Amino acid sequence: MKLYYARLFSDRLDGDHGLPRSRLAELVREFREVQAEVRRRRGAGEYGFYGLGDQAAAVQQIRRFAEGVGQAFDHVLVLGIGGSALGMKALLNGLRRPAWNELDDEGREFFPRLTVLDNVDPTSVAEALRRMDPRRALVNVISKSGGTAETMAQYLVVRHWLEEHLGPAASRHLVFTTDPGRGALREIANREGIPALEVPPAVGGRFSVLSPVGLLPAALVGIDVDRLLAGAREALVHAESDDLLRNPAALWAGLHWAADTTLGARIHVLMPYTDRLREFAEWFRQLWAESLGKARNRRGQEVNVGPTPVGAVGPTDQHSQVQLFMEGPYDKIVTFVALDRFPEDVPIPAREDLPADLAYLPGHTLGGLLRSEYQATAAALARMGRMNCSLHLPELSPETMGEAIMFFQLATGYAGVWYGVDPFDQPGVELGKQLAYAALGRPGYPPEPTGLPQGDVSP
Ligand code: PA5
Repeated sequence: MKLYYARLFSDRLDGDHGLPRSRLAELVREFREVQAEVRRRRGAGEYGFYGLGDQAAAVQQIRRFAEGVGQAFDHVLVLGIGGSALGMKALLNGLRRPAWNELDDEGREFFPRLTVLDNVDPTSVAEALRRMDPRRALVNVISKSGGTAETMAQYLVVRHWLEEHLGPAASRHLVFTTDPGRGALREIANREGIPALEVPPAVGGRFSVLSPVGLLPAALVGIDVDRLLAGAREALVHAESDDLLRNPAALWAGLHWAADTTLGARIHVLMPYTDRLREFAEWFRQLWAESLGKARNRRGQEVNVGPTPVGAVGPTDQHSQVQLFMEGPYDKIVTFVALDRFPEDVPIPAREDLPADLAYLPGHTLGGLLRSEYQATAAALARMGRMNCSLHLPELSPETMGEAIMFFQLATGYAGVWYGVDPFDQPGVELGKQLAYAALGRPGYPPEPTGLPQGDVSP
């Protein structure tokens, strides 16, 4: 994986916009303290995701479990939300054939279909259950806390559905992924002997895709989890460097922070040029937003900071959001993600009756068209003075995906230090949860008005 970042600097843009070169030298100097703080915090037990490169015991357990269930199930149903769902969606989208669930057994190499339910929209849940045969379904309930209302409600619905069809055999269709010692899910697992994998306590939800949270469903659908972790280790090796210019995750984070805080570029766009990283951009969005959007800094002062992540896909979004990126306010940085190789390419065929205007297309391939469009969009943004950078992956494989996942997790950890906030908590979602509990009548949560205020309503 390579990071091309020249087009963040004014000398490679229009001369007026972008970071001055001198800012890079300052960042290089500041990085020593940033790296030292990350090391101090790692020593104190924070930044647990650094340990995910090395999980021999967990991987063995996952492999045993996946081999044990063999071909008993042809559908894996994942119940989870936020960090317990988005990573697996990205892995499935990136590393299995497109439209996986529509392929026949042979097309899926006899691995099961996989559905991730990460919402409690009754229509989606009811429809998913109608389409699935409970006798052939394995349900993986994923919740680090073991108590998230949406996931637990889904669990109750799905467990009832299993029991209605299978009676007491229902529990043999369940596997949990949760905290080793705490929470309602662990309590149920212990009481009923339901297999339950462990989310390492020091790894937060949105940093957990490379833990059993993502690795178990990945292994079940035939993704090579050893190769994923090998890629993650590659990113971790680079992150040990104290030289910012040799530490790409820290460099990407530092440049984004500098552009945000000195140039007001607080919208950070991730734009892969492949459909297969569409869900990856969604995963990144949660990681960047929930980790860095904070009211208070580490010292308790009110700061209300945080960049706004945006997902886009090229070339599709050239016909949607790119007009804004090109001509709107100078408040964005675009990071392109480009693949050097596609697993297959499609030639654009010639034909005799082609209007002259279209004669330039035949002779190219769809992959070539996509690459030219990416390069042209990046160059056009630069000419318009718009900061952009590119991550190049040689191809999409478990190794490169593992590396890219770890790259952004590391970048988020570094950005936490640069912004001065705790990237591992999410106090802002608590109030909404408390009001929802109150509305649902959960004991200990006195009723509070949550209905819409009357008066200012349009007809
Ligand atoms: O990143 C996070 O911590 C959150 O997005 C959680 O993953 C999400 O709230 C789900 O939590 P849990 O896994 O405890 O059910």
